[in-house]
Amino acid sequence: MKKDLRTLNNQTRKAWDANAEVWDKRMGVDGNDFFNILCWPALKSLLDLKPDMHILDIACGNGLTTSRLAKAGAQVTAFDFSSPLIEYAKTHSADFNSQITYRVIDATNESQLLSLGKNKFDSSLSNMALFDMADIEPLFRTLPKLLKPNGTFVFSITHPAFNNASAMHIVEEFDNGEINTVYSIKVSRYMTPHHQRGLALRNQPKPQVYFDRPIQYYLNLGFKNGFILDGFEERAFPPEVPQTHPLGWGGKFSELPAVVIARMRLVS
Ligand SMILES: C[S@@+](CC[C@H](N)C(=O)[O-])C[C@H]1O[C@@H](n2cnc3c(N)ncnc32)[C@H](O)[C@@H]1O
Repeated sequence: MKKDLRTLNNQTRKAWDANAEVWDKRMGVDGNDFFNILCWPALKSLLDLKPDMHILDIACGNGLTTSRLAKAGAQVTAFDFSSPLIEYAKTHSADFNSQITYRVIDATNESQLLSLGKNKFDSSLSNMALFDMADIEPLFRTLPKLLKPNGTFVFSITHPAFNNASAMHIVEEFDNGEINTVYSIKVSRYMTPHHQRGLALRNQPKPQVYFDRPIQYYLNLGFKNGFILDGFEERAFPPEVPQTHPLGWGGKFSELPAVVIARMRLVS
């Protein structure tokens, strides 16, 4: 990895270690609206969950998805590069000890990834984490070796076009005989990969780094490494979902997707 990416990766890990306690308190085992309304229903269906599947949970955080996958009967190997988050994950999934293996692994490190085992996983999942990684090329390069033939990689990310670090949330009012309120997103940047400081949670102790990439970056990286795209969902909050903050994501932005979820499949 190039030196500047290595520095950014270290910076990212330090931020996640520092934010681990607050992240765990906020997400717990129940998750937030982003997870429960936008991500989990689509992830579950795209993973086509069946008991005894072996799933690799990439950048598992405090184990929110890991426990749900185990609850559905899957065997799960889950990793994150933040040791404090892995410790929280272990405390939350004690009931599923026989189904879950946790590891501390850096997804930007190919040899650490290979230590997970070759041709071992039916599917892999990364929920809301690829945009937190300084470099996703080692992961896309290694996954075909870790997955079984025709294995899948399902990932959710903040929508690169509507929910990147340049996005400004706007509310405007106009009068055409009655008062109308319009919520919109203004985006000034999309095409060129870019990194910027940001907050996953409003009260987190340390800002993290977001790595914005256009959708074609993710898909082309998959295609280059032997995947095809065979599932794709753009997810917006239904109108009835309240905003958690006046201009935060919620039902007022029901025509603008905050999250995109893709399933890529290995073709032999
Ligand atoms: C927004 S959190 C999502 C966590 C979890 N997937 C969930 O759904 O709750 C992003 C996660 O990516 C992890 N992460 C970022 N870069 C990583 C890397 N290079 N290797 C492993 N984990 C990484 C962070 O430690 C953090 O746990």
